[in-house]
This record gives sequence, structure tokens and C-alpha cells, in this order.
Amino acid sequence: MRRISNVKLQKIIKIDEELNKIQDLDILMERILLDARRVTNAEAGSIYSVDGSQLQIKCSQNEELERDLPPNGKLIYAFFEYPISEKTISGWVAANAEPLMITDVYNIPEEAPYGFSADYDKKSGYHTVSTFTLPLISNTDQVIGVLQLINARDRKGRIIPFNRHDEPFVMHFASSATLALQRARMTRTLLLRMIRMAGLRDPKETGAHVNRVGAYSVELYEAWAKERKLPAKEIEKVKDTFRMVAMLHDIGKVAIPDNILKKAGLLEPEEFEVMKTHTWQGAKIMGDSESVMDSMAIEVALRHHEHWDGTGYPGHIDPDTGEWLEGMERTGLKGEEIPLFARIVSIADVYDALMSNRVYKKAWKEEEVIGSLLEQKGRQFDPELIDLFMEILPTIKHVQEKYPDQE
Ligand code: C2E
Ligand code: SIN
Ligand code: SIN
Ligand code: FE
Ligand code: FE
Repeated sequence: MRRISNVKLQKIIKIDEELNKIQDLDILMERILLDARRVTNAEAGSIYSVDGSQLQIKCSQNEELERDLPPNGKLIYAFFEYPISEKTISGWVAANAEPLMITDVYNIPEEAPYGFSADYDKKSGYHTVSTFTLPLISNTDQVIGVLQLINARDRKGRIIPFNRHDEPFVMHFASSATLALQRARMTRTLLLRMIRMAGLRDPKETGAHVNRVGAYSVELYEAWAKERKLPAKEIEKVKDTFRMVAMLHDIGKVAIPDNILKKAGLLEPEEFEVMKTHTWQGAKIMGDSESVMDSMAIEVALRHHEHWDGTGYPGHIDPDTGEWLEGMERTGLKGEEIPLFARIVSIADVYDALMSNRVYKKAWKEEEVIGSLLEQKGRQFDPELIDLFMEILPTIKHVQEKYPDQE
């Protein structure tokens, strides 16, 4: 027994080294789940996040069901939410902050405080037998999620109960999963805090504008992603973060002096040069919390004024100093050099800026705005994204009605 543990321990040290290299939190959670399943030889498993009074699936794997999927297909039952009632297995684990091993979910004694709702099996066509479910407990003793492993198998592929001796190893993965979940939450909290901060700096312009740009951007992303047939689950995940990231595109304006930011007339060229620094200043504000902040937020702040034809700004600069990079052309980024999310926000931002009154300009008529976007297709804007934007205009108009400017 002890020798087996030793081999497992060494494996885990190796796995940890690899996990430490993963930046993307979604990928990290998928890997943790996969590794936890490998160590216990579990056919399926999920990680849930506690979200208010719900358990929300963060990632989910099932080898048997995945075998029947087309290449690139993904499991679609991943949107499940369970109320954290103690009546379900994972609900009981979350509420009691205790791990639970079950030999056969269809033979839970009547008097047990939890039971198995066969919903999951019915929807997926899977047959759950043995489970091992652990709470994910934060360093402040809160249950922030649940890790569940399903159907352990022996060498011959027969389903067996989970092994008590595996418990310490699985606990180890549970603590990695806890850290990943906490990091994801920290990013979210920081983004929300920054959005509020930006609103305080310039309440008139930012409030509704920021909400609209966030909403237009996710609509345009969704249209783009559907055209590429990306899995619904992935689109949903990206939208969540992207909305906040798009709302923060102008966070760097907090570094621009009031006499420029709020100037009632046209900017002088020197003033506009100062204004242009809001791109890399924004990236820098977010880069300071690099360990938790999504790189998407940094890219969008830095690149939302780049033009498709290379005439935008800030171009090939060092985002720490705003200085041109040695050995690079002193131009804007061009075409697909500009990150997709920045190309999307660029359209959403300009559309909204032109449709609105600003301290320095009056709102344009809608036909003029559309005319200008079409005219800039392939110049300022990604042509494919402009076409998609025109297709979703009715939805865009809905968003506009939802977030009117306050006078
Ligand atoms: P913003 O007001 O959010 O505008 C975002 C972008 O919308 C602008 O980026 C520009 O691409 C587009 N846009 C806005 N108004 C017009 C317009 O009247 N004509 C055209 N063709 N495009 C327009 P840009 O130019 O890089 O400006 C970035 C930010 O600099 C603006 O954000 C605004 O805060 C400030 N800004 C730009 N020009 C002036 C100005 O003349 N006076 C003042 N006070 N601020 C300005
Ligand atoms: C769980 O609670 O662990 C998920 C399955 C169920 O609905 O009981
Ligand atoms: C960056 O993208 O972070 C700066 C380097 C560049 O100009 O491409
Ligand atoms: Fe901007
Ligand atoms: Fe803007």
C-alpha cells in the first residue's frame, strides 16, 4: 500500500509542476478534473462553483459520453444548476462542508439526508453508480465549490466504489481546484470594482456608454462565434468575461487630466497625444494585477483604437512606457495582428460614440452612423465584423433602448 502511495505521490508532484504552468483558468480547471479522475480511475466528474444559492457547473467530463461525440464536439449538459439543497449529493456536501463517498447512488438508504436525483442520468443517458464528492473550501472557511468524481473502474472496466486510500490524493486536487476558482473570482471582483471606479471618474459619459459598449460587444462576439460554430458552452463562458472586459476599454481615461478629458471643444494635437495614452495607461493599470487579471482585458484596453489598415494607435509600443519598440515599424497594428476582442470593441465603441452626444460633439443621425461604419469597412474596421454588425442591428437597437443616457 505504502509503495503505491509513493508512486502516486511522485506522479502528483509532476502533475503539480505542469498545472503551475497553465495560465488560462478554464483550461486549468479542466486539467485538475482530468488529473483527479486519472488518479482515481473515474470515468466522469464535475467541478461546481457555489453561486449564491446555486451550484453551477464550471467543468464537466464524461469519457463514455464523450466517445459518442463528433470530433470537436463538447458535452452540452454543462449548464446544469442545482439549488444547494441538502437533498442532492453535491448539495449536502456543500452545505455540510464534508466529503461523501457513495457506493451506489441508486441504493442510498431511505434515512440518508441526501438522495440522488436521476435528472442528470435521464438528460445524459448515463448511468451513475459510485461517486466521491468533496467540498472546495477557501482559506476563509467558505465552501466555494464542489468536486465530484463519478464511477471508479477497476482494471477490467467494472464499476467499483472509490478507494478510501485515494482520499488524500483527491483532497490535494480539491485544493488546487479551490485556488483556481478563487483566482477566477478575484478577477471578477477586480473587474467589477474597476468598472465602478471608472464610473466615479466620469459619471456622465461612462455610465450608460460603458453598459452599451459591453452589451454590443458580446452580441457581436456571439454572432462571430456562431458563424464559426463554436460550442455553446464556450461562447457562454467567453461572453461572461468579455462583457466586463469591454466595459473597461476606457479605464485608462482615469489617468487623463480633466482639462483634456472634459474639454467642451475639439482637442489640440498635443492634447490628443495625451488622450491617446489612455490605451496603454489602461493596459498598465490592469497589468499591475497580472497574476489575476485576464489578458483579454489588457489587450482590449491597449488595442481598441487600432485600425484594420494600420493607421490607428498606440501601435508597436512598449505598454509600460508608451515608447516605440526598438526595431519595430512605428505604425499601428494591422488586420489580424489586432486581437479579435479589440477589433470587436472598436466597432461597438465608435458606433456608440457617434450615436451619442459628447462634450465635444452632437449625436449623429443613425443613417450617418451606419454610413460611416460601412465607409470605414476594411479601413478602420474588420470587414467581416462590420458585415456581422449590420446583420445584428435590430438586436443592437434593443440594447440601446435598455441603456438610455441619463440627462
Ligand atoms: P470617445 O468619445 O469614446 O470616442 C471613441 C471613438 O469614436 C473615437 O476615437 C473615434 O474613433 C470615434 N469618434 C467619436 N466622435 C467622432 C466624430 O465626431 N467623428 C469621427 N469620425 N469619429 C468619432 P478617438 O478619435 O481615438 O478618440 C478617443 C477619445 O478621445 C474619445 O473617446 C474622446 O474621449 C476623446 N476625444 C477625441 N476627440 C476629441 C475632441 O475633439 N474633444 C474632446 N473633448 N475629446 C475628444
Ligand atoms: C449531485 O447531487 O451530486 C448531482 C446528482 C444529483 O442530482 O443528485
Ligand atoms: C503588445 O501587444 O503587448 C505590445 C507589443 C506590440 O506592439 O505588438
Ligand atoms: Fe478609448
Ligand atoms: Fe469609449
